[in-house]
This record gives sequence, structure tokens and C-alpha cells, in this order.
Amino acid sequence: MAVSSAPGKVYLFGEHAVVYGEPAVPCAIERRARVEATQRSDSRVRVHAQDLYLNGFSVEYAGPADDRPTVATDQSVLDLGMRYIDGAIDRARDLADQPEVGLDVTVESDLPLGAGLGSSAAVVVAGIDATARELGLELDSEEVANHAYKVEHEVQNGEASRADTFCSATGGAAKVEGDSCETIDAPNLPFVVGYDGGTGNTGELVAGVRALREEYDFAASTVESIGDLVRRGEHALDAGDVDELGRLMDVNHGLLSALGVSARSLDAMVWAAREAGARGAKLTGSGGGGCIVALDETEDTPTALGYTPECERAFRAELDTEGVRRED
Ligand code: PMV
Repeated sequence: MAVSSAPGKVYLFGEHAVVYGEPAVPCAIERRARVEATQRSDSRVRVHAQDLYLNGFSVEYAGPADDRPTVATDQSVLDLGMRYIDGAIDRARDLADQPEVGLDVTVESDLPLGAGLGSSAAVVVAGIDATARELGLELDSEEVANHAYKVEHEVQNGEASRADTFCSATGGAAKVEGDSCETIDAPNLPFVVGYDGGTGNTGELVAGVRALREEYDFAASTVESIGDLVRRGEHALDAGDVDELGRLMDVNHGLLSALGVSARSLDAMVWAAREAGARGAKLTGSGGGGCIVALDETEDTPTALGYTPECERAFRAELDTEGVRRED
């Protein structure tokens, strides 16, 4: 048996603009997905998923994914979770040169699905690492990041940036620009996450920004302004200037709103955090619904979010400097 875990992430800055080659800074957070893989004596693959913030599910199949019986109760769970887990298992089996080997795989996650916290990347990263190790193959974190990116890219029909998978595999704060990803220095960042209980449709939101950018010069300039802001954010990170990071997060949220990707629930949580004294707050990920991230080392923001009707759950999730790790 092999067990691996990998962290989720928030975007400190730069989502959406990163799609057009501007830099972004995702940060790994202390909330993880764990995957346990155990080789079987037959060629069946059995996947059991728990706590994916939706109903747990269990699927057993042998042979190609197309022949897989649809036994899960909730199709959206299958769509959101199963394709990523499947992709990770298949890639690790191929890498280990054992494409037909049977496995029992259990997935547990502390991360809401499709809410801007990189849950799918964390599952894929931990899934590749655990399955590969169970099959006798040790990969370093950069290799895991690379293979996990390819799985996400395939599952998301070519619409994936390297941000989530790199950050989840390596931990810490990262700078992502085009195909280049590097870990950067960061002070301890007291992240607080607010979750509205919903999800955004990343594909539709990205397409919406693309259309806006093509139609209006202001939208193209907004994307460039986000890039400028991220470059300033990198200096603030380097200097450990948390106040400046907060101010830039506030501006980043305003620019994302101008691009039409915020939502009433996200704005309500952002304002609740600001009024509670957070140094800054913004949506994280594609928007439309899901999560916001604020910076506050006190309990004021989690408490205020707890009283905000639009917030289903609030939790502290500090920067996690560790990426994928062995848990067995
Ligand atoms: O919602 P998430 O965590 O999948 O983030 C999407 C980030 C975008 O910049 C909107 C798209 C991308 O692939 O970078």
C-alpha cells in the first residue's frame, strides 16, 4: 500500500490574466487531498472517494474507461472527480510500464470541488505519486507536476494552466508565466478562505473573459493591469510586506470584477472580510462562485465570515511550504 497527499492552492494574484501570458502567483495551502493505492491480484480497478464535499462514491471496473459501468449515484461527482482520478491512475500505470495492473484506490479530500482551491490538481498529484510508488516507481516533485499537468490538460480538453499542478506538487508560493513555473520566497501568509458552497464553470468564465477582451479595449487593458499588479506583488512578497500584498489583493478583486467573473456571494464575503479588518481579500480561481481568500492573522475574519449568510464555511489555511508527500 502507498499513501500520498498533496495540497490545494489559492491564487494570491493573477488568475484569468495568466491565460494570456501574464504572470500569476498561486500559493499552496494547508488543506490536502490524500490518495491510497494498493495493488490487487486481478486486473480490476476499484476507486472509492470520500469527503469530496459531495457524496462519496465507489466505482469498480476492468478494461478501458469507456466500458466502465456508471454505478455512482451522482453524475456530477463522476464527471468532476472520476476523470481526474482515472487519468492519474492510468498515467502512473503507463509510467510504471504496467498498464493492466489492478488497483484499489481510495481518495479523501479536505478541499471543496471546483471552487478555486485546486482540488482536482491535488487529487491528480497525490494519485500519480501514490500509484507510481505502489508500482515501484519513485518520481520527484517536478516529474509529478509535469505528469499531473498532462492529465489535467487532457481531462479539461486543453484548457489548463500549469499553476495548480505545479503548486500542488512543489508546495509554497509559485510564479507561473506561460510554461515557466518557479517556486518563489514568501513570508508566512495567514490565509483565510470563505466558501459559498457553490462552484463556477471555469470553461464558461474563461470564454466570457476572452469575448470581453476581444470586444473591448478596456478589458484587454484590465488583463494587462492585472499583470502589472502581479509584478508589484512579487516585490511585496520578496520584501515580506503583507500590508502591500493585502492592498494589491483588493485591487486584483476589483479588476476581476471588471472582467465580469465575480458574483454577489463572492463580493459579500470579500466585503465581510475587509470590514472585519483583513489586510486584503479577493476571489480565488475562476470565480462565478466558490471561494474567496483573505489575509488576516487574527480570528476576526473567520468569525465575521461565519456570520455572513453567503458564506457556507470559513477556515484558516496557511501557506503550505510542503508539496506532495508520502503518508505511508
Ligand atoms: O478555478 P481554478 O482553480 O481551476 O482556476 C482557474 C484559473 C484560470 O486562470 C481562470 C484558468 C487557468 O487555467 O489558469
